[in-house]
Amino acid sequence: MPPNSMEPTMAPEPVTVTQNVKSADQMAVPQETNYYLYILQSTLNLLAHVLIGVVVGICLLFSLRGGLPLGATFTHIILCVIGYQLLMGQAILTLARGNGWAAKLRLVDKRRAHWILQIMGSALALAGSLVKVLDKEVHWNTNHGRFALVAIVFTVASLVNGLTSLYAYEFRRIFNGNISKLTHVCFGIVTFTTASITLCHGFDKNFFRIWASDEFANVLIAFTAVYTIIIIINPFITFCSKASNAIRR
Ligand code: HEM
Repeated sequence: MPPNSMEPTMAPEPVTVTQNVKSADQMAVPQETNYYLYILQSTLNLLAHVLIGVVVGICLLFSLRGGLPLGATFTHIILCVIGYQLLMGQAILTLARGNGWAAKLRLVDKRRAHWILQIMGSALALAGSLVKVLDKEVHWNTNHGRFALVAIVFTVASLVNGLTSLYAYEFRRIFNGNISKLTHVCFGIVTFTTASITLCHGFDKNFFRIWASDEFANVLIAFTAVYTIIIIINPFITFCSKASNAIRR
């Protein structure tokens, strides 16, 4: 039998199956969503995942190349990159439309996945930052350190604010739940953006450029910028619409 010909067992499924596939396809795109917008969102989402994979993978390779035990600098890189870029990035993407692994989750489970990833990411990122702060004698004397400080402050604020948003109903007598959700989205955007800027300043360090080459370090900075923009688009739109609703009321 020629290599490209199909065996009888691999013949196309009967018509009824094709009809099932068609209806499953229709269900895959939420009905209220514009089909082309949905495809654009899923494609950007996939691109963000690939870019995060490359950036985090290279940071791990860079930090682990000398083997164990790791020094403070390499430990802080691993913890911060996994915490901020991987887990916190995924936490934000969980709530985005067209996010492959979370698309089929119920809203309640998406929220659950969001706060679990957010807490794990923040814990690793704060631990990674603390490791380097304890290792240094003079603090916040570089742009890398200053942006990291802003990320630390907003990470803590986001965590506290996330709790008040999660329990907005229970806390409704103490403060306005809508304002709490609005600030949570805003703090999340600032945290993730400043963490990405910190990472770019990390890629700009001499010892990284010597290892990776100038060209590749610039590519990694560009990758970080692209996935950061993709990740914050959705919360940014949510923030603008929530803010305009709050102002109109
Ligand atoms: C999201 C990722 C990162 C975060 C949140 C982060 C955070 C921090 C923090 C909090 C400090 C201490 C600042 C101070 O006490 O003044 C620091 C210092 C440092 N980090 Fe990072 N870092 C990240 C990624 C990287 C990367 C990728 C590199 C190198 C490839 C790097 C290299 C350094 C070095 C050499 C220092 C000491 C010099 C300085 O303060 O600028 N970091 N980082």
